[in-house]
Amino acid sequence: MKKKFYITTPIYYTNQAPHIGTAYTTVAADVLARYHRKLGEEVFFLTGTDEHGEKIAQAAEKAGKTPQEFVDKIVKSFKKAWEKLNIEYSDFIRTTDERHKKGVEKFLLKLKESGKIYQDEYRGLYCIGCEKFITKKELINGKCPDHQKEPKLISETNYFFKLNDFLPQVKKLIESDKLIIEPKERKKEVLSLLKQDLGNFSISRQNVKWGIDLPFDKEQKTYVWVEALQNYITAIGYKDDSKKFNKYWPADLHLIAKDIVKFHAIFWPALLLAIGLKLPKKIFVHGYLTINGQKMSKSLGNVVDPIYLVDKYGADTIRYFLLKEISFGQDGDFSIKRLEERYNSDLANGLGNLVSRVLTLSEKAGVILSNSEESDKEFNSEIRLVQEKYNKAMEEIKFNDALESIWQLISFCDECIEKNKPWELVENNQDKAKEVLSQLLTTIREIALLLEPFMPETSEEILKQIKQNKKTEALFPRL
Ligand code: MSP
Repeated sequence: MKKKFYITTPIYYTNQAPHIGTAYTTVAADVLARYHRKLGEEVFFLTGTDEHGEKIAQAAEKAGKTPQEFVDKIVKSFKKAWEKLNIEYSDFIRTTDERHKKGVEKFLLKLKESGKIYQDEYRGLYCIGCEKFITKKELINGKCPDHQKEPKLISETNYFFKLNDFLPQVKKLIESDKLIIEPKERKKEVLSLLKQDLGNFSISRQNVKWGIDLPFDKEQKTYVWVEALQNYITAIGYKDDSKKFNKYWPADLHLIAKDIVKFHAIFWPALLLAIGLKLPKKIFVHGYLTINGQKMSKSLGNVVDPIYLVDKYGADTIRYFLLKEISFGQDGDFSIKRLEERYNSDLANGLGNLVSRVLTLSEKAGVILSNSEESDKEFNSEIRLVQEKYNKAMEEIKFNDALESIWQLISFCDECIEKNKPWELVENNQDKAKEVLSQLLTTIREIALLLEPFMPETSEEILKQIKQNKKTEALFPRL
């Protein structure tokens, strides 16, 4: 049986169109999904949109639309952006989908049955931008640091989840890596969060109109975060497709940024434990894309439009830049200047130049790459070395290391060209010219195959140019 790989992105709020920060996670997930497909695994790659809650209702009102009309329009802009960026998702879940609502109801009824829910009065500060309760300690100058807005004081009757009952178990699972949290610093951060008094967790809201009714109290809407987390199971048939659900759950990887760690690494596992479902295997937390050091965010108004970028620079350049420029897991600044520099040095001069030089010389020497080409020892061992590095980096979700290993192969080819001077060989030693150029073409094929998860269009174009059309050829066919 094929190994499965279930990977998710967060579902994005639909108060505004996507920006290059949201595209960052989605591109990263797409690269991993493509890589695992190439390994022959059965991949399910889920993304989608988080469409309920006060923040979205307010945005709709401001635009003079009903919430549903409003989100329908925004969702189109997400789908368009993902298409432009060549994101090959398996499914796109919307929290306004019937399948999601039904799944959430089933989940909440189970939670109620578990006896871990109770009603209580809530008084506290709420940040609409974060859609979460916030403590005074977290505020800077009285404002939420992420949204630069004052929270509002809320006092209402809510249903609460007995989070505390599950925290010791969550802690154990994280400590023992049964639930893996990466990078290591994030695991530490979660473990230290678990030492604090987290209090119990409110799962409903009384005065919110736009949301999913609590199945056991229609006067209350499900707290937007509680239903949002459930997209990871409602999309794969939690309500009524147990075959699909059992095939894919638990998720192999939830990819998120550091803003939503607490929800994913503490609340979500606790909720799953409460109703007896397995926990995701791994949560990988990446950093922020910043602009002049400040988080790129819709609320701060410093966002860059991914569609504009793709139209100007091409999808592959953006995909490459996002994953090469910033070490995945750390924060990193986005700048058009750096993007253009990287394009010129790595893509046009590095990769593009190599391919066009080798192709021109091969045409001149009449060399065509056949599938049975045997590499010579030196080339073979270099290719193997790079494949090992690349695979290790992909397993560890270190995209820039994986890309660096491909560029190692590019440099290796450049050195070989400098050493052998094939443009001279073509004139005075045809046999040697053929040998060298065949090796170079074989290596370029390898480069194209390794590049495919990152730069699918470029990879396909190179394979076409060297007359190797088998895009789906196994990643390392000759090992
Ligand atoms: N709707 C919630 C998530 C629910 S998941 C069950 C939410 N949405 S969001 O639209 O605010 O998106 C948050 C996610 O978008 C981050 O975790 C991250 O994956 C991505 N990013 C948004 N801005 C980003 C940056 N500036 N940099 C990196 N990632 C960014 O929270």
